[in-house]
Amino acid sequence: MSSKKVLKELNQAVKFLQKQNKHTPQVGVVLGSGLSNFTGEIEIEKEIAYEKIPHFPISTVEGHKSKMIFGKLGGKRVVAMAGRFHFYEGYDIRDVIFPIRVMKLLGIETLLLSNAAGSVNPEYKVGDLMIINDHIGLFTPNPLIGKNVDELGPRFPDMSEPYKQKLIQKAKDIALANNYAVREGVYVAVTGPTFETRAEYKALLTLGADVVGMSTVQEAIVANHMGLDVFAMSVVTDIGIREDHSIITHEEVLEAARHAEPRLATIFKELIAAI
Ligand code: HPA
Repeated sequence: MSSKKVLKELNQAVKFLQKQNKHTPQVGVVLGSGLSNFTGEIEIEKEIAYEKIPHFPISTVEGHKSKMIFGKLGGKRVVAMAGRFHFYEGYDIRDVIFPIRVMKLLGIETLLLSNAAGSVNPEYKVGDLMIINDHIGLFTPNPLIGKNVDELGPRFPDMSEPYKQKLIQKAKDIALANNYAVREGVYVAVTGPTFETRAEYKALLTLGADVVGMSTVQEAIVANHMGLDVFAMSVVTDIGIREDHSIITHEEVLEAARHAEPRLATIFKELIAAI
């Protein structure tokens, strides 16, 4: 697709949303599987179903509510995505990241990402929260492949600080003040939809990953491309290598995410207030 066409589609989505909501959001939030209840924290001004937004794909995964929410939280204007798009659903990788670009063009300067992830690090437990301090994205298609849209960012973006240290530090302070234990580590993205084999979890551990998931990295890449400050957090919803050889189910992932959600919501809310 030409840069002109990409920008035209983005502008159509942005114009549509600006007609529905006059305020400029400062912070964007993406809510992962089982984490959509966070929207209850927002003083909602406008909700818009994805299917109404020009050029938006439609989310198909259970546990996602599939709407964009505009409102106030922690004294800031926010736009939240309840439900995201995953490559495994069959979308083109550029459709997966389309909403992130839309949020940037709506005016956000900071992006908060959340996800459900499987543990690779043997010390991690179900329900743990992990601040992502770096990622490995080598197993999923890079969303910036193709002609660079120079209006959005550079051809070869630096990725030495994909998750902003200042936001990580603030989140750690918030967790400490609330008496929450949080981990900090590396998220590796895979395409899914299969969970990993035992050999794959082991391989990912030797590569330096702490958790594994099927989202987030592509969104963080395009956000960095556009110069957004990014913060991301995983909820550990399942243990990769299980000594009892039990299986992993999507229901279990959703349940664990729901259980951890109040802690994640507090950290996000206080972080937004502190930005
Ligand atoms: N692997 C990949 N993606 C996931 C997992 C997992 O174990 N848990 C939640 N998302």
